[in-house]
Amino acid sequence: MSAIIMSGKTLADEMTIEMQNDVNQLKKKGVTPGLVVLLVGEDSASQTYVKNKEKRAKALGFHSLIRHYPVDITEEELLNEVNHYNEDPAFHGILVQLPLPKQIDSDKVVNAIDSVKDVDGFHPINMGKLLIGQPDKIPCTPYGIIKLLERYQVDIDGKTAVMIGRSNIVGKPMAQLLMMKNATVTIAHSRTKDLAALARTADILVVAIGRGHFVTKEFIKPGAAVIDVGMNRDKNGKLIGDVKSDEVAEVAGYLTPVPKGVGPMTITMLLYQTIESAKKISA
Ligand code: GUN
Repeated sequence: MSAIIMSGKTLADEMTIEMQNDVNQLKKKGVTPGLVVLLVGEDSASQTYVKNKEKRAKALGFHSLIRHYPVDITEEELLNEVNHYNEDPAFHGILVQLPLPKQIDSDKVVNAIDSVKDVDGFHPINMGKLLIGQPDKIPCTPYGIIKLLERYQVDIDGKTAVMIGRSNIVGKPMAQLLMMKNATVTIAHSRTKDLAALARTADILVVAIGRGHFVTKEFIKPGAAVIDVGMNRDKNGKLIGDVKSDEVAEVAGYLTPVPKGVGPMTITMLLYQTIESAKKISA
């Protein structure tokens, strides 16, 4: 058996066509969706992410702005910048690229973003809404994964799901979204005993641990849907996932590739939520 490849690139392209329609409609009403990204310091991975976001936002005709601040910006200065964009009607979405330098309390900065413009879905108000089953803005990576599972008609209702990784950005919201679709969900993490045996119970296995090729075929129930959130570099600098894809593809029923799997969906959902925010704010 060889797994069906769930292409995030294909779904992102399909969704982009629909989103282009929405942008055109908004522009007819005199509204251009605006996204500002606040980037601090010179982290090269962050710079790459931010450039990709800007490229895709511009391709859709957004008003897109990257504000690049020096690594030694103070917390107060950054909070003032966030407040400035909270008030600026040209922007419907604000994203503060993480991680931030040590002198800045990231929680304080995320809390300062107007929850209506929090297109990353990281604000405690949006996290809380998600947890009580009334989602508004949703963290983009788990949101994109749900869209991918739907696109490939992976059955979630009544299924067993295992989430490896407990981060606020991926693991926790992913588990909640799967639970809202009636999966029975277990969250595993670095202290979980016999991880492979637990993973083998999963009809849906989502992996976000940040360790290249960690998940081998011994982790996989035959026919399972396997979602690889990992973005690691191997010793030759090649981008690899958390899942050893060549051998896992022989056991799994569905598998997301790296690259062109989860990554393009994360950016797509960011742009999608910015459009939704522009619709709401301009209504
Ligand atoms: N750093 C890594 N991924 C993300 C993301 O999705 N949003 C933000 N703001 N920062 C990140």
